[in-house]
Amino acid sequence: MIIVKSVADLRRVRAELPGPLGLVPTMGFLHEGHLSLVRRARADCASVAVSIFVNPTQFGPGEDLERYPRALERDLNLLRPIGVDLVWTPPPEEVYPSGYQTFVTVEQVSRPLEGKARPIHFRGVATVVAKLLNLFEPHRAYFGQKDAQQTVVVRRMARDLDFPLEVVVCPTVREADGLAMSSRNAYLTPGERPVASVLYRALGAAKEALDRGEHDADILRSVMSRTLADEPVASEEYVSIAHPATLDELETVEGEALFSLAVRLGRTRLIDNFLLHEDEWSTGIIAEGSRA
Ligand code: PAF
Repeated sequence: MIIVKSVADLRRVRAELPGPLGLVPTMGFLHEGHLSLVRRARADCASVAVSIFVNPTQFGPGEDLERYPRALERDLNLLRPIGVDLVWTPPPEEVYPSGYQTFVTVEQVSRPLEGKARPIHFRGVATVVAKLLNLFEPHRAYFGQKDAQQTVVVRRMARDLDFPLEVVVCPTVREADGLAMSSRNAYLTPGERPVASVLYRALGAAKEALDRGEHDADILRSVMSRTLADEPVASEEYVSIAHPATLDELETVEGEALFSLAVRLGRTRLIDNFLLHEDEWSTGIIAEGSRA
């Protein structure tokens, strides 16, 4: 596993890697969700690259850039045994050198849901992912379904800007109680941790109502809200049932639908989603050996 920090070294090592190349972009503090992306890339591709970079441009003022968890040595130790060829761990000035002023904005699909609470977030994500795609020139890039809107934004950008690659979206990996794995789960206090499964429970309640024949999206949204309200320490930011590609809110759930929600729990903001497609629920997978 070759670890590089500069753009020049990245280009030099990348040029020697046999294709197809799979890229897994991350912000580090890796968990089983990230590792599942790497394993999938390993299974699909001749070479696998991972980027570890806490991207400052996707954090708004007052967000958690400073306290975002970082553990580079631990991350590298997790990646070594699973067959990664190249890891890029640039310092911020390597990605955004002095005088930097170019950004990628994906218009409509960046605005609702996360975009309402985090207005510059997807501009930062699209910009850094565009740079990663230019630098690594991967044949496939791997993202988790957990960040559903991010996958929509990245797919849109790749299509609109003619990046010649496949965007592969892999299932959410969950703890035993259903909590979606996320680096930000590290912020949860021992008291908040059991409450955090309420996002999964709210999505499950909507699924049960749908299975009973309820197709009115407003009613299904209120089922999610009521479940969240059962936990007074969890405050709802939004619940949504939207078209999975346009992210327009739906009136009825007949075909494909993205059920998503965001919740604030103390100082932690959590998101989760289920994707309903072809009459099947994609809920993600419970990690082997994970504990509630
Ligand atoms: O999902 C993440 O960790 C980040 O948003 C990404 C895609 C690595 C861009 O910084």
